Amino acid sequence: MSNNESMHFLCSNCNSTYSIDTRIVHCINCGSLVEIRQPQPQLNGRALSGTEIREHWDARLRKYASKPHPYSSGVWRFIEAIYPELAHTNHSESEEIVTQLEGNTPLLYHRSVSDWAGVSDLRIKHEGHNPTGSFKDRGMTVAVTAAKLNGANGVICASTGNTSSSLASYAGTAGLKSTVLIPHGNISKGKLAQTVAYGASVEQVDGNFDECLRQAQKLSVKLNYQLVNSLNPFRLEGQKTIVYELLQQLNWDAPDWIALPAGNLGNTAAFGKALRELHEWGVIERLPRLLAVQAAGASPFAQSFEGGFTERFAVEPETIATAIRIGDPASYDRAVRSIRETNGYVTSVSDDEILATKKVIDESGIGCEPASAASVAGVKKLRSMGVIKSTERVVSVLTGHILKDLDMFQ
Ligand code: F0G
Repeated sequence: MSNNESMHFLCSNCNSTYSIDTRIVHCINCGSLVEIRQPQPQLNGRALSGTEIREHWDARLRKYASKPHPYSSGVWRFIEAIYPELAHTNHSESEEIVTQLEGNTPLLYHRSVSDWAGVSDLRIKHEGHNPTGSFKDRGMTVAVTAAKLNGANGVICASTGNTSSSLASYAGTAGLKSTVLIPHGNISKGKLAQTVAYGASVEQVDGNFDECLRQAQKLSVKLNYQLVNSLNPFRLEGQKTIVYELLQQLNWDAPDWIALPAGNLGNTAAFGKALRELHEWGVIERLPRLLAVQAAGASPFAQSFEGGFTERFAVEPETIATAIRIGDPASYDRAVRSIRETNGYVTSVSDDEILATKKVIDESGIGCEPASAASVAGVKKLRSMGVIKSTERVVSVLTGHILKDLDMFQ
């Protein structure tokens, strides 16, 4: 890629390109999902080397640590790789970035969790520390900023609860209208309460998440609202920063594995893209292996992985981990690419394994919602299978806060 190229949409299936201010999610030519092609990060018109990128982001972390500026956000700190067109310093006056200074989540260690998983160095990247209590805020700050810049009437999503809470909150900050479609009776009361309180209009659909997503796509066209599910490429740009930030916290010394829970596969897609780009730009020399973990009752991606990705499956999803109760993941193709390029692995864990792991995480004081515990349960499973070695360095991402999903305690 040439260095003077600017950020644009690219269809990785048919290579069509589109300008960044076109409001598209699917390629007009072939219907595949589009992604954002990022040029090598630049400063004053000059492409930076991998070392310079690391130094630039480390310096910005120090400079803006406690200032009320978008660059103190753990997403916008990495603006050159997220939305380079917006990279200038006088943001506080322009207010073009819709942010709540998300990110900056801790990288934790607790011996009991590490011992439970059976590895000596298991770090926990806790995304439940975001403003609305889940990792979704990282994608939402970018997607809502783009929707506002591109003149959308409002924003819309389908959700198992966390995306809807985040969307409602960021739409409120942006002054945009918001509508969410949720599976009737199948999201936690806390997430529903949060979504309503932030001011979204809520439609309960008789059907699962996959049906909600189909309806949300249709409604987005009818209302001229921007769809901000993880199909939206800006969401993935924001979610890449989970990986950037954890690498920065590790002094850019990449771990051997990064484990995450997997539902609609937006995060799996985003993590792979983050690692691919950092590697291409020379920021990291070695790629960690991605481990995507599904709940056994909602594991079409794990099923495909077992068959070498020769077949795509859709299932009727059922699991106690409502956040990942998804049967036909939208970002399937790009998640396959993430797993292939990182020599990654996909597995599934039972509800009993999820709950037993959640208990250990909760009692360590760290705490998380059930879906999040899947990432640590998956590490334990792969360790017992001998795929992960006890000396390998692993980071598990906890995606949501302990208070997000309490329905099982009632
Ligand atoms: N963990 C939590 C807590 C989630 O809320 C989600 C997704 C995932 C993991 C899976 O991430 O979809 O990128 O593979 N929740 C979505 C929602 C579907 O609507 O809140 P994914």
